[in-house]
Amino acid sequence: MTAPPPGLLALQDLEAAWGERRSMRGFRPEPVPRPELERMFSAAQRAPSWCNIQPWRVALTEPPVTGELAVALQAAARGGLPRAELPFPLDYPPPYRERRVACGVALYQAMGIARDDKAGRYDAYLRNYALFGAPHVAIVACDRRLGPYAYIDVGVWLGYVLTAAAALGIDTCPMASLAAYPEPLRQRLPIADTDVILFGLALGRADDAVDANQCRTSREPVAANVTFVPAGPPASPGVPGPPGSPEPPVR
Ligand SMILES: Cc1cc2nc3c(=O)[nH]c(=O)nc-3n(C[C@H](O)[C@H](O)[C@H](O)COP(=O)(O)O)c2cc1C
Repeated sequence: MTAPPPGLLALQDLEAAWGERRSMRGFRPEPVPRPELERMFSAAQRAPSWCNIQPWRVALTEPPVTGELAVALQAAARGGLPRAELPFPLDYPPPYRERRVACGVALYQAMGIARDDKAGRYDAYLRNYALFGAPHVAIVACDRRLGPYAYIDVGVWLGYVLTAAAALGIDTCPMASLAAYPEPLRQRLPIADTDVILFGLALGRADDAVDANQCRTSREPVAANVTFVPAGPPASPGVPGPPGSPEPPVR
């Protein structure tokens, strides 16, 4: 067997890391050593952004601040209405609604919570604000004056962070839910008035004993998201797909 070209080997490594990673919703309390966290964020600094403005602004907590923040967030979530600075979607039209429902079903099944178990579902929701027991949370913001294209940049950066974390064996859960209660975050963290809070990111080592961590989500086939134009087979032989995909026709 001849060695695959270097580009393909790297893609296989990436696919392996992406195939393994998943959102974890139960963490062990021990902190991740700061050099590992620095390594992860340092790798993600290579993320591209429009005009290279690098607009991600991150406050990262370590114990005991993470725990104090979790207490304050839970109090806010129990006692107040959500008031995200960047409005959450009011409705998910098809096909997003179906995908969202499937995600919820997978998670609640993993946790053994029945569809009609309102108290169980509320407890599961509140666990977001306990930060799933993570020793670290990154609160991610962006200067609101930059607008939506900078938020895209931050999304690209998040992908880099998640990939670097997977490579380093750091478990993660991105959490938009945290943005719903900005006051406890703003009271305790250095977040500029000009910044809008986008999401949180729980970081740590997963607790394998937590049922929620058995949750697996699926993905649509490429054709659900990507349309080749013109449609039909390629005009010239293309790059082979991942293992198991049909051979491109040779002309
Ligand atoms: C921007 C963003 C926000 C998210 N917010 C939450 C959240 O608030 N709570 C949660 O449990 N999961 C949250 N997730 C995790 C998604 O539910 C998860 O990524 C998705 O279901 C796919 O599953 P996977 O990450 O295990 O592959 C979020 C993910 C992203 C990318």
